[in-house]
Amino acid sequence: MQLNKDFLWGAATAAYQVEGGNVASDWWTFEHAEGAPMAEPSGDSTDHYHRYREDIILLAGLGLNAFRFGIEWSRIEPFPGQISYAAIDHYRRVLATCEEFGVTPLVTMMHHTVPLWLAERGGFLWPEAADRFAAYCGLVATELGDKLRYVMTINQPNLDANLGYRRGRTYPGWIASKTMDGEAAAAAVEPTFRRAHSEGRAAIKAAAPHVKVGLGLALDAWIFDGPEDELRKHKAVTDWEGNYLECTQGDDWVGVQGYTHKVAAAPSGDPNDPGGAHGHPAPEGERLTQMKYPFYPAAIGEAARRVHRLTGLPIMITENGVGSDDDTERVEYIQGALESLGAAVREDGVDLRGYFHWSLLDNFEWNSGFARQFGLIAVDRRTFKRTIKPSATFYGGFALRNELP
Ligand code: BGC
Repeated sequence: MQLNKDFLWGAATAAYQVEGGNVASDWWTFEHAEGAPMAEPSGDSTDHYHRYREDIILLAGLGLNAFRFGIEWSRIEPFPGQISYAAIDHYRRVLATCEEFGVTPLVTMMHHTVPLWLAERGGFLWPEAADRFAAYCGLVATELGDKLRYVMTINQPNLDANLGYRRGRTYPGWIASKTMDGEAAAAAVEPTFRRAHSEGRAAIKAAAPHVKVGLGLALDAWIFDGPEDELRKHKAVTDWEGNYLECTQGDDWVGVQGYTHKVAAAPSGDPNDPGGAHGHPAPEGERLTQMKYPFYPAAIGEAARRVHRLTGLPIMITENGVGSDDDTERVEYIQGALESLGAAVREDGVDLRGYFHWSLLDNFEWNSGFARQFGLIAVDRRTFKRTIKPSATFYGGFALRNELP
């Protein structure tokens, strides 16, 4: 199935997961906090902060024409109101390198991490976080707008709310969990995240009106044994996506990020029942990935169809991939995922604009550390040598032919 010539074929990263040395970020402190649920510290990670040029060249060499990467807020604003122009200049060089190699950048403004000073004020439990975020977005758009094309304001605020604040898996959520009920924390951050997105978008558009802005949401496929309208009323589903999908209205595109399918337990009638969505319960006997959730490549096509029906907006797959130390599994996963997207476009008319595989590099998988491999490219943690995996060449083939299976 042939695609438009401007279809974006990319690979994705997140600043904190690949850059290394993000000492002003809240995760750095989280990793070193006594008793925190962290496997190991991120340290130098893949040293992408210094090796971005090599990584962009590798990406372009695979035949890809787009790169999703993050700007680390804590590098731009290490203390409230104190701006690092050296950091801004760094990201200008990254954007210029993309341009040099014919790679379209899609930039994420915030991906699970916040500056430590913001986390110390409660993260998104502090209502002013939305205003601070919008000011940071405006600053970046003013300084770098001439080089920006696509911007994702926030990566998966729905996941941050539900895993970070509800279950204490991010730093502000972990701190809050010592004194606050998780359910209350997840509910409290939602309006602030939503306002951060819409005010962040407005600030970007005011400074750089040509930039196409979207939100990235964690949107897996659901296993539910009832009709779709019942599913949509289910509290677990509303928490995970309903409330967050609402605030994509007015955006230029929606970032769909899916990996697996998960169970929405049938509504029990109890409005406080979080149902089965707040983890990834594996249906009996299913093949699992390293993440302990089901290996289910068709999830992304199902999520894209649902988002198309619910929003009608252009869709960018901004993350999709598999945690595995067996690269043949990645090949199988990519084939299945792209097939499911091809069917979604053909059968439902999904307006698909791009696909970004997660991830370009094996990297720091948050609480799990480096023991999960999502990369198309392996990285030696001592020498930082990059090694292209067969799955990368396999994926690049679709990009070079510009086709979905
Ligand atoms: C996150 C990434 C993460 C990936 C794989 C996504 O939900 O945005 O940061 O590495 O899942 O678990």
